[in-house]
Amino acid sequence: MESDRLMDSDKSMSNDRLMGSDKLVDSDRLMSNDKMMASDKPTENDTLIKSEHPYKVAEVIRSRRTIRQFKAEPVSQELVLELLNVANWAPNHGRREPWRYIQYKGEARAQFAEAVIGSFTAEEKIKYAEHRLKYYMEIPIHLIIVMKEDPRQKQWDEDFGAVCCWIQTFQLAAWERGLGVVWKTNTYIYAPAFREAVGVEAGEKIVGVLHVGYPEIIPGAQPRTAAENRLIVHDSSMQEVE
Ligand SMILES: Cc1cc2nc3c(=O)[nH]c(=O)nc-3n(C[C@H](O)[C@H](O)[C@H](O)COP(=O)(O)O)c2cc1C
Repeated sequence: MESDRLMDSDKSMSNDRLMGSDKLVDSDRLMSNDKMMASDKPTENDTLIKSEHPYKVAEVIRSRRTIRQFKAEPVSQELVLELLNVANWAPNHGRREPWRYIQYKGEARAQFAEAVIGSFTAEEKIKYAEHRLKYYMEIPIHLIIVMKEDPRQKQWDEDFGAVCCWIQTFQLAAWERGLGVVWKTNTYIYAPAFREAVGVEAGEKIVGVLHVGYPEIIPGAQPRTAAENRLIVHDSSMQEVE
């Protein structure tokens, strides 16, 4: 696509870099203004969302936990749609929006369970099928997050990054609204039987399955390594002072 070519153009970016960082910022801004569509402009709804949920982003990020035990309480489809539409604001290069999602709720959760169980060996079915069916029927929502696989390496990498951003954006938006999520990458997501059962096609990758519901148990924080321990700073102005 012409727009992809323009926005992906490494050539124009490197020209800008040679001409200095101010130019780079300017040309980026101009490019995005040129491409701005009506749907990108702030709307009254944006203001409404901000005033109703006055959390700081950092608070939502730091308080979020992966949730593995959920209440049976249903999640409204209106809320699911709201969260999907928030997550769609995740950064994605070239406006490819390389994601789609498949949702299972209500009695259809049995279809999801059957798809997973269908990928099991005979032995696994005997051991785990009953428990899995029960587990999946208890969680309100299952979402399969699917990425369109671009045959070009650079675009594939960018698109995978974008879908991971989409998932984290969804997790944070859900947390802000009191919902918990676990992002699963169990081996069944790679199984041809599962892919076929849920309608994932050749040229598509399942990036994760999200189980969504109101948390029954919120686990404690898993500590993170302080950034200071992972950071190398190059600062020419400091070296000059020293
Ligand atoms: C790419 C990715 C794959 C994950 N896959 C699984 C999974 O298959 N099963 C699971 O229980 N949790 C999975 N998780 C959740 C992580 O285990 C979880 O984020 C981690 O334990 C830290 O906990 P926190 O999210 O509460 O901070 C995954 C997370 C990511 C980012």
